Amino acid sequence: MLVTSWSWFDGGVCEDKAKDSHCKGGREVSAPESSSRPQRKSFPAQMLRIAAYARPYTRRITVGVVLVLLGTMFSLVYPIGIAAVVDTAVGSGDERLLHVFSICVLGLFVLGAVVGFSGNYLLDSTGEYLVLDLRKKLLSNLLKLDLAFFHSQRAGDLTARLTSDTASIRHAVTDTGVSLLNQGLMLVGSAGVMVYLNWKLALIVTLLAPVTTVLSRRFGTFFQEISRQAQLRNAESNAIAHEAISGIPLVKSMSRRDFEVAKYEAALKALQKERTLLVRTDAWFRGLVAVSTSLAVVAIFWFGGMQVLAEQISAGELVAFLFYVQNISGCFASFAQLYADLNQAAGASSRVFDLLDIEPKISDEARPDVASTCSGIVEFDDVGFGYTSNGIKVIDGLRMTVGGGSVVALVGNSGCGKSSLLHLLLRLYDVNAGQIRIDGVDIREYPLAWLRERVTLVSQDVFLFSGSVRENIRYGNLEANDKEVERAARFAQAHDFVAKLDEGYDTEVGDRGVKLSGGQRQRIALARAFLRKPKILLLDEATSGVDYAIENKILASVIEWGKREGITTIIVTHRLNSIRISDRVAVLDGGRLIEEGSYDELVSRGGKLAALLEAGILRDFDEGVEGKVAETKFLAPSTKVRSVKLSSSVI
Ligand SMILES: Nc1ncnc2c1ncn2[C@@H]1O[C@H](COP(=O)(O)OP(=O)(O)O)[C@@H](O)[C@H]1O
Ligand SMILES: [Mg+2]
Repeated sequence: MLVTSWSWFDGGVCEDKAKDSHCKGGREVSAPESSSRPQRKSFPAQMLRIAAYARPYTRRITVGVVLVLLGTMFSLVYPIGIAAVVDTAVGSGDERLLHVFSICVLGLFVLGAVVGFSGNYLLDSTGEYLVLDLRKKLLSNLLKLDLAFFHSQRAGDLTARLTSDTASIRHAVTDTGVSLLNQGLMLVGSAGVMVYLNWKLALIVTLLAPVTTVLSRRFGTFFQEISRQAQLRNAESNAIAHEAISGIPLVKSMSRRDFEVAKYEAALKALQKERTLLVRTDAWFRGLVAVSTSLAVVAIFWFGGMQVLAEQISAGELVAFLFYVQNISGCFASFAQLYADLNQAAGASSRVFDLLDIEPKISDEARPDVASTCSGIVEFDDVGFGYTSNGIKVIDGLRMTVGGGSVVALVGNSGCGKSSLLHLLLRLYDVNAGQIRIDGVDIREYPLAWLRERVTLVSQDVFLFSGSVRENIRYGNLEANDKEVERAARFAQAHDFVAKLDEGYDTEVGDRGVKLSGGQRQRIALARAFLRKPKILLLDEATSGVDYAIENKILASVIEWGKREGITTIIVTHRLNSIRISDRVAVLDGGRLIEEGSYDELVSRGGKLAALLEAGILRDFDEGVEGKVAETKFLAPSTKVRSVKLSSSVI
């Protein structure tokens, strides 16, 4: 639905669903305990959701589980084999029988190991498929989210979620889930066999159950809390390292290596504290379980020994019993850890599903009958916008029309809203009030892909991916061939310097393009944009780092191309050469359009443009700043900036 009324707070960046997770920062999503998300999913619901991801692999999982359980069955049977060895072979003194029985027990061992191994292999490899699916879905969903979401997150935190949280889920689905089944079967099976063999001895073992159950519950809850804390600390230290590495030029130039290391160390110490607590708790738990198990073993040994002496049971039965006690104590020992692992996975899955559940605010509900052609007429109709819901307006009732195929220079003081306006046109953010129309249609009615195919922005902050020059330019149009890439580079005045690089277009640009100068990066970004062949081209100080002479060549090409192809071009700039070649100049102040007209008109009007010239904010580099100031003083004698109310003026 379109927002047609002035609803500053309703239509703001924080809205509806987004309120819980979107706007409250990384802490919220990464720390489920502090999330205000009203419907926290229950543990079984989370597990069911994870199971849904496992559905494509049902066959593999079923076979794996059956094999693992079969392996466990073998482990259940072999103590009986050992009892037979002790009673029949050793008892009878028949050496041949001892050999045969020993080989049979060995066979059971091997068979159990092979079957169990195959099952584990199947399940573990399925876990890898599952985590691949989950990570792919997660990144795909993340990249769908609004820019505002990313501005409230730390990149290191998000990547930690992509890696360690999904790994936790994988661990729960394969290792933990299967161990639980396995240990459960082992527990029930061992108990069953023990009762069958000798219920009195079995009764002694059941005394273990309440002790270890209480221990498991107590420790399990504690484990869960500490591991959750540890995970948060881990994400935090990751984020710090991530920022220090990506901000390396600043860290170096300000000699802040020790500062960053200290920050990282503090985070690591907090992590280490949690992890030490975790290890200590684990050691305590295992120790207590071992003590209670030893007590049970001694009790059985003593009581069973008495029964053997009284010839009520055989020595073999007692040996088998002791094996089963070991089995059962192993099960109890792992339950607390499994419980904690499952809870950790529940925490991880809630963080992952929280991310998966966030819906972008920028909707893609497009009109189906959208025209494929575009003549590039852009209308800003009473547009209002603010980044936050605190009522601060970055764009305020702006009205402006840009004719199809025309070139408009957008000028104004830094922070007056120029970049924001271009972002609105590309729907990186949605307007809070009014409408932006292209060819008379609200841009929210176009499919996002349609819009972003026709509107291309080259922003002040150029981002290049690590990869070759060619790959970076081709990012603008993945179908483009090498010739087209080169043509776009020539157009952006990048070809000459690219040709001089060691490996030409195949030269690696380094992380974020660090191996290139600022101006070179800008030209690659321009080539990338040109390759898209947009209908509306937005240049946001896109040539600010390029030499003046080269900038002029780029501008001349853009203008000539624009006229030929009917491309609407909006240039945000502080340089006079760009302003002069534009058909019209629009002057922004405080998020409003306060002046518009041709350059000559505005200079002679002596308004805001003239003031910007006088203040040296708009400069002409080849004439020198001094000369320009003198000229503007002459052109705009003691004029005050008039606030001109403009409505729907065609540029
Ligand atoms: N992502 C953001 N979140 C919050 N405020 C922002 C954001 N980007 C820009 N602003 C604010 O919006 C105002 C206009 O910024 P911008 O459009 O970048 O100005 P210009 O491009 O004209 O220099 C500035 O006051 C700036 O602080
Ligand atoms: Mg800007």
